[in-house]
Amino acid sequence: MNVLVTGGAGYIGAHTCVALLEAGHTVIVADNLCNSKVESINKVQQITNKDLTFYEIDTTDEKAVDTIFSNHEIDGVIHFAGLKAVGESVENPLAYYYNNLVGTMVLIKACQKYGVNRFVFSSSATVYGDNRVPFVETMDLLPTTNPYGETKAMSERILTDIANANPVFSVSILRYFNPVGAHESGLIGEAPNGIPNNLMPYVTQVAKGKLEKLRVFGNDYPTVDGTGVRDYIHVLDLAEGHVAALENLTEGVHVYNLGTGKGTSVLELVKAFEGANDIEVPYEIANRRPGDIASCYADASKAKRELGWTAKHDLISMCRDAWQFEKNYKE
Ligand code: NAD
Ligand code: UFG
Repeated sequence: MNVLVTGGAGYIGAHTCVALLEAGHTVIVADNLCNSKVESINKVQQITNKDLTFYEIDTTDEKAVDTIFSNHEIDGVIHFAGLKAVGESVENPLAYYYNNLVGTMVLIKACQKYGVNRFVFSSSATVYGDNRVPFVETMDLLPTTNPYGETKAMSERILTDIANANPVFSVSILRYFNPVGAHESGLIGEAPNGIPNNLMPYVTQVAKGKLEKLRVFGNDYPTVDGTGVRDYIHVLDLAEGHVAALENLTEGVHVYNLGTGKGTSVLELVKAFEGANDIEVPYEIANRRPGDIASCYADASKAKRELGWTAKHDLISMCRDAWQFEKNYKE
């Protein structure tokens, strides 16, 4: 298939480009590089020894998107392009609603114009809100605590309404849990700008000595050791989940959790990281972070049943690969 990957220079997008190329697909990337570098495209080509086509464009730019659709016979779209920093979305909600919603609608419009009927969308476990774990696709969604999360819930709604009105338009909505790790080559991985918000990049930067110590946000949650529990999933597994979703897409709207189904606490992750890499991660207990929930993990059985996909990598390989990337990474 000829696959348009928006946001393909980003963290999850680049790993998915590798998986798509390795599965024999042709890849066209559209990315405005607002949170990534063009080098990741070169690294994808280096890892796979295959070429892809890259357009530096904004998905909210209708004309630029139209040009891509008219230049290529696109069979399917995987839409990663979006802004994703929760705190920033609270400070600048308009940027988030505009970028994430308009970008999605411009792409759907182009799909309709050019008869492209396969659409895979990056959603997030955040749309479940503070539901009871494990999160199942059939649950009623609860409000999220920030504009970023709302853009995901709204995009899901928009895609569902459009698919219902146009039954040949096939949509796969993928709700990711907590993506971590990196390609085993150490060439691509997660390189956040500034001080990381997320746990794993924070841990790797403490291990590297770039940051002094980890602050563990709360140790009084109703969890195994009082710290927050999440379902960490290796980005390589996540990438394979996209290939499976695209290749198995049938008419209608399909929602899948992409997680491991296993919850890990902050302290369990720190311990696993120290053990996997034989390195110490100093930490202190701090206050809870506003907006955090106690526990978030997937019921991942639907993706297994319908897509034949399950996560294969364990926490130790997530920690090893995340560290391998950080060790080699130069700003
Ligand atoms: P990322 O920031 O590394 O990648 C996103 C890419 O999209 C970047 O390369 C950025 O330059 C590009 N982009 C953003 N807005 C764009 C626009 N208007 N036009 C063109 N390109 C644009 O993020 P990621 O972690 O790879 O996330 C990919 C997707 O998955 C996002 O939609 C994100 O919200 C979603 N998601 C991520 C996580 C996570 O924890 N990483 C969890 C759930 C969902
Ligand atoms: N945590 C710390 N210290 C830190 C960073 C995080 O203790 O410096 C804790 C958090 O309190 C939480 C856990 O580590 O208990 C995981 O936090 P992350 O920030 O890594 O991930 P979140 O689960 O909060 O959020 C992530 C993405 C969201 C996405 C959500 C979906 O950042 O975009 O997963 O599950 F919506």
